[in-house]
Amino acid sequence: MNPIKVGLLGFGIVGRGTYNVLQRNQEEIRRRAGRGIEVAAVAVRDVKKARDAVGPALPITSNPQDIVRHPDIDIVVELMGGYEPARTLVLEAIERGKHVVTANKALLALHGNEIFEAASRRGVMVAFEAAVAGGIPIIKALREGLTANRIEWIAGIINGTSNFILSEMRAKGLPFDAVLAEAQRLGYAEADPTFDIEGIDAAHKLTILASIAFGVPINFAAAYTEGISKLAAEDIRYAEQLGYRIKLLGITKRTSKGVELRVHPTLVPMQRLLASVEGAMNAVLVKGDAVGVTLYYGKGAGAEPTASAVVADLVDVTRMHTADPENRVPHLAFQAEHLADLPWLGIEDTATSYYFRMRVADQPGVLADIARILADRRISIDALFQREPSEGENQTDIIMLTHEAVERDVNAAIARIEALPTVLAPVIRIRQEELV
Ligand code: NAP
Ligand code: HSE
Repeated sequence: MNPIKVGLLGFGIVGRGTYNVLQRNQEEIRRRAGRGIEVAAVAVRDVKKARDAVGPALPITSNPQDIVRHPDIDIVVELMGGYEPARTLVLEAIERGKHVVTANKALLALHGNEIFEAASRRGVMVAFEAAVAGGIPIIKALREGLTANRIEWIAGIINGTSNFILSEMRAKGLPFDAVLAEAQRLGYAEADPTFDIEGIDAAHKLTILASIAFGVPINFAAAYTEGISKLAAEDIRYAEQLGYRIKLLGITKRTSKGVELRVHPTLVPMQRLLASVEGAMNAVLVKGDAVGVTLYYGKGAGAEPTASAVVADLVDVTRMHTADPENRVPHLAFQAEHLADLPWLGIEDTATSYYFRMRVADQPGVLADIARILADRRISIDALFQREPSEGENQTDIIMLTHEAVERDVNAAIARIEALPTVLAPVIRIRQEELV
């Protein structure tokens, strides 16, 4: 059988990785897919740069329409990133009856519903394994491997750049900016690194995971997002003293009141496997009612790990493109007409445990005042210690863990605590999860 023809929109880190893996493993891939997978052409902005990278073998264009409108191309692989022109090109490819593979989580988090609807109408597939956790087959696991389960929650380290920064800061005591520059050099960081460090990239990925886990439309607007840029080294240290590591987690939970969707720095007990995930590695915990907790670990970014997921999608599409669209795995794991309209829970209604650090005057009654305010809001203290003040210092830090409390109560308590004349700086608050 003739090879299936693929056009790449973008030939950067992931585009070149995809091309290289397809070339190197072509025989293995042909045996798996039942026919060869051949890159017919690529589109970039800078043709000379791409030509220098790949040599004369491959047609290269600076006009992405040449790919989308190419009569021989069956699958368009969008590896440009960003919202436009990616959205327009993907929609045009779909209208022209082409299948799409994309690694673009930002695009899917904001325009996924529109793209999947268009694809279903036209009877084509949109595959996106590489969009979440790079090389880890988490989309496949959720959509297929765990399909028997009612998913209860997902918690994941799904931004390699932030995890790399947190790991290097903790282990080597390096400053934030130096570690970010290294992550950019290694190709982990997004074109706009604020997406990584402010939790936006993780929220894009989490939004996609939540839809697949709970069978709800994609809703990025429902995500609460807090990054790592304001995290202080001393909180990483105090957390360690209490037996916790701080990780940027994406957490989505189905509760009786609605679906939680939140990304924020989180204290994770040191004995959990997730706490040991270091560097740019990703890991996703999924709790299903039948299977219990399962863990998926691997490289979440980089040329060939991400290409591994892109090529897996290409093989899936090659195997399935002649199948009746009704018999394919639905884009969001549930049949489109059975997506549920579950309510989303705002962060103020979320219940979790907390870490607090309070800079206070070192004098009698301070702790009693704070404990009274917490008790008034039904916030129960779980553990507590006070930093030893240095010689002559008349202030100190109180570090505290709480039992589970509702965020609205915590906000109200913090406002009252910060109003005390003996509390000398804004209260630092980091959420904590036991993950069992
Ligand atoms: P990249 O290295 O910046 O490459 C982007 C490519 O797209 C470049 O070849 C660029 O061409 C081309 N391009 C961008 N805008 C274009 C336009 N308007 N017309 C034609 N070509 C255009 O990006 P990347 O790291 O490979 O990421 C690609 C996608 O994969 C993104 O959605 C990203 O979020 C996602 N992703 C990346 C990783 C990773 O580890 N890097 C992991 C998972 C997912 P020029 O080079 O000529 O400018
Ligand atoms: N910028 C992303 C990260 C790349 O650091 O995880 C993979 O999506």
